[in-house]
Amino acid sequence: MNNMVLKGDIAFTPTKDIMEIHKNSYIIIEEGKVVDICNQLDNSYKGYLLKDFTGKIIIPGFVDLHLHAPQYPNMGLGLDKELIPWLDTYTFPEEGKYDDLDYARKVFSKLIKDLWRFGTTRSVVFSSIHKESTKLLMNMFIASGLGAYVGKVNMDRNTAEELMENTKKSIEDTEEILKECCESDLVKPIVTPRFAPTCSEEMLSKLGELAIKYDVPVQSHLSENTSEVIWVKELFPNSKNYASVYDEFNLLGKTKTIMAHCVYNTDEEIDLMGRNKVYAAHCPYSNYNLSSGIMPVRKYLDKGVPVGLASDISGGNSLSIMDIIGGTIQASKMKWLESNKELQPLTFNEGFFLGTKGGGSFFGEVGSFEKGYDFDALIIDDSSLIGLNELSIEERLQKIIYTGDDRNIIERYVKGIKIEEPFTS
Ligand code: GUN
Ligand code: FE
Repeated sequence: MNNMVLKGDIAFTPTKDIMEIHKNSYIIIEEGKVVDICNQLDNSYKGYLLKDFTGKIIIPGFVDLHLHAPQYPNMGLGLDKELIPWLDTYTFPEEGKYDDLDYARKVFSKLIKDLWRFGTTRSVVFSSIHKESTKLLMNMFIASGLGAYVGKVNMDRNTAEELMENTKKSIEDTEEILKECCESDLVKPIVTPRFAPTCSEEMLSKLGELAIKYDVPVQSHLSENTSEVIWVKELFPNSKNYASVYDEFNLLGKTKTIMAHCVYNTDEEIDLMGRNKVYAAHCPYSNYNLSSGIMPVRKYLDKGVPVGLASDISGGNSLSIMDIIGGTIQASKMKWLESNKELQPLTFNEGFFLGTKGGGSFFGEVGSFEKGYDFDALIIDDSSLIGLNELSIEERLQKIIYTGDDRNIIERYVKGIKIEEPFTS
């Protein structure tokens, strides 16, 4: 039986408007799930392994809803262009290298190690078009103990020659992964049309069929950049708008779906996402770097669209969801000004929620410490950050998010299992 008790200052956000704080309390874990939080340890838990983190803060693990594993070597490079020329100049040439499994292994081990380091306990990841390196990435996530959805990218037009897939072969490769790579409870496949401009109608249609046949989720990009939106109008003249292109091919919420960016969706498209319960992955750093724009997160929240946060490596320049929570709140303040103070800025609580339970809910009961939730957690030692004044736990959490970094994370847990640093040898 994998039962234990952790003692410390416990904080989590069951909703975007509520921070639940349990000072100097015990969190009880049975079979990897939270069963209770109490300030006195009941006799019935006395036999459980007790881990004493008195004075430390225990928070849910962070969730990254969108990043590109094969772009990791490019992080911080070539951010002087907008989306389409950036893809052609920097991204596609790097992604072309992943038929080399030795190279892939080197990159993926560094990436997964860094996800661990920054406390990202679950992530939703684009691989490249390559079947074997996608399987390798899945197996490496399994070996690490971190949770992930991993998708083989599909594209059969408007890309570099070495990445241009034959539609039939692309679908066969994808189906092979969906059939073979479904054993793990923590690492699962996800159908991944790169975005509408690089997929033919036949490709989109077949991918929609596969998602339904194997009941697997879908991820793609949507309305990131103005030139992209215009291009999609030209490529799909009969579709009402960009979001409805995916919807027409069963790729917008028929199964659980994430759309990255969502900067330029119309109200009609946002409503459609809300009705179909499609997640928006907000990537503020990427949107700044590629001069894309600022997603109106407040509008999505008001319309009931589920939202999570994402690094979008390598459009984004930081893997740290801590940083991205701060960046999300800052971006929302600029949006507030840009909207003539109509779209209210996000609160600290809302930012923290989006980086934990907001994205975590894509994985099930993840990202919070409510009863029944998976115990995905970080132990934070903030002694280096605390100044001269006495701070509340909520204030300490603000300091951690805005001024802390990976050095403040001393332990990480996924489903009640302590995760050690992966690939150390
Ligand atoms: N749209 C299509 N592909 C990509 C990508 O790799 N990164 C980003 N940011 N947007 C995309
Ligand atoms: Fe992306």
